[in-house]
Amino acid sequence: MSPTPLTQPPPMGPTTTTTAAAVTRRIADLPGPRGLPLLGNALQMDRDRLHQQAEAWAGQYGEAYRMSLGRRRFLVLSNPEVVAAVLRDRPDGFKRTERLSQTAREFGFHGLFSANGEHWRRQRPMVLAGLDPTHIKSFFPTLVKVTQRFAQRWQRAAQRGEPIDLQADLMRYTVDVTAGLAFGADINTIESDDEVIQQHLDKVLPALFKRVMSTVRYWDWFKLPADRRLDQHLAALADAVQGFIAAARARLDADPALRAHPRNLIEAMLAARDREGSTVTDEDVSGNVLTMLLAGEDTTANTLVWMIWQLHHHPDAAVRAAAEARAVVGQAGLVTAPEQLPRLDYVEACAHETMRLKPVAPLIIQQAVRDTVVAGIEVPMNSLVMCLMRPAAVSDTHFAEADRFMPERWLAHGPAGLAASSAKRVAMPFGAGPRICPGRYLALAEMKMVISMLLASFRIESVDTEDGTPVRERLALTMSPVGLRMRLRTASALSV
Ligand code: HEM
Repeated sequence: MSPTPLTQPPPMGPTTTTTAAAVTRRIADLPGPRGLPLLGNALQMDRDRLHQQAEAWAGQYGEAYRMSLGRRRFLVLSNPEVVAAVLRDRPDGFKRTERLSQTAREFGFHGLFSANGEHWRRQRPMVLAGLDPTHIKSFFPTLVKVTQRFAQRWQRAAQRGEPIDLQADLMRYTVDVTAGLAFGADINTIESDDEVIQQHLDKVLPALFKRVMSTVRYWDWFKLPADRRLDQHLAALADAVQGFIAAARARLDADPALRAHPRNLIEAMLAARDREGSTVTDEDVSGNVLTMLLAGEDTTANTLVWMIWQLHHHPDAAVRAAAEARAVVGQAGLVTAPEQLPRLDYVEACAHETMRLKPVAPLIIQQAVRDTVVAGIEVPMNSLVMCLMRPAAVSDTHFAEADRFMPERWLAHGPAGLAASSAKRVAMPFGAGPRICPGRYLALAEMKMVISMLLASFRIESVDTEDGTPVRERLALTMSPVGLRMRLRTASALSV
């Protein structure tokens, strides 16, 4: 098979060509860290800091280098145009890795995120429709209700002077929102003191990441205690997923008109599943229910944690965001109408600036579907390509004073560096191309709801780790801050 071009090339650009003369290098010829036989570079990196090590090597070896984990070799790319070209060339040129798809299937969450080719193409429109802005608008009353409950939870913590485990609390919020929007279910984990679904969900992505990156599939031969515990969590999640499906089925049976006009993703998928000649399977439905929960939980919650941490450490930005929030939400203390969201420009700029510096998906790994050429590098079919999403976004080449938290740069006439529209081509926290995150409108709406509520109704006393040590980044498929706790005072307490 001859190499396939991604786009038309400028001489030194990110692009590809089919002519042999333009093919300058093979992956093996690229610079990269020296590794050990059989193990490659596996011993040189901790799995939960893999992104930071890969970023450090990008600084040392450049925008295209090679590394390996066991027998798996990676082409590592960080030029934003090259990365975008790879991500745009899907599903025909690149796909999610076979290891990811296989592991997701084993975990029972083989849905849009892990699907490839035709299987992916068939599911994407349904998921997009379930998460599009119109749908979010019609869901708005529920979004307000969940945010109100969340505000009350934080009021109680503030009155008692209790520290808030930011990640755990925000995951309650994001799971309640996702279940409401995608499944029409009010699971209300925010007000629950019982065992909640998050205690199972938050074990899955770290375990998935561990298995995807592992050099040996030992669990095919024997199971460690951790693997047996994982099986229990997966079984509990499978039960919960079947519960959402049974409830949605009961609604469709009670009101057959819903089949033509489903109100949410789960109803749409079940209606499609039951249509004659349908290619949607039961596994697709259950796989996407779990995909929604997992994809919507960690990403948005962790971005919110990073955002609160940034705002607390940048009081000027926090004061400006709080003034905007109060002007928009007024006495209500939180956003109550969808028309208010677009008026939270500066809060949104804070979200973009947070995601530039702390992208929760700092690497996106793809596998070549066919022989191709990327930035003058021959990429044979099945090669693994690791796209690093942060180096360009924190480089002075693209952003003035790149290491500073400056939300203004995302406003239309921001003072610093690139115009916001160009900046979005360099910092790509939601990925790019045909597989760009379909949950991004929902995520931005959630972030604006939570941050405006927080800044309008509370004063943040502290955001730090339990032992006061600097916050660490931990990669477990998504990248989260470790152990941040927040202390709040209510606005009413302030006036006392
Ligand atoms: C701040 C929050 C979020 C961030 C930073 C984020 C980031 C990402 C990224 C980087 C990808 C991969 C894109 C690519 O391969 O080019 C992705 C895919 C995906 N995200 Fe998100 N995401 C967020 C929130 C959400 C939410 C709230 C949902 C749904 C409830 C969601 C559902 C998905 C799905 C289903 C995919 C797979 C899309 C596909 O492969 O076609 N995400 N997200």
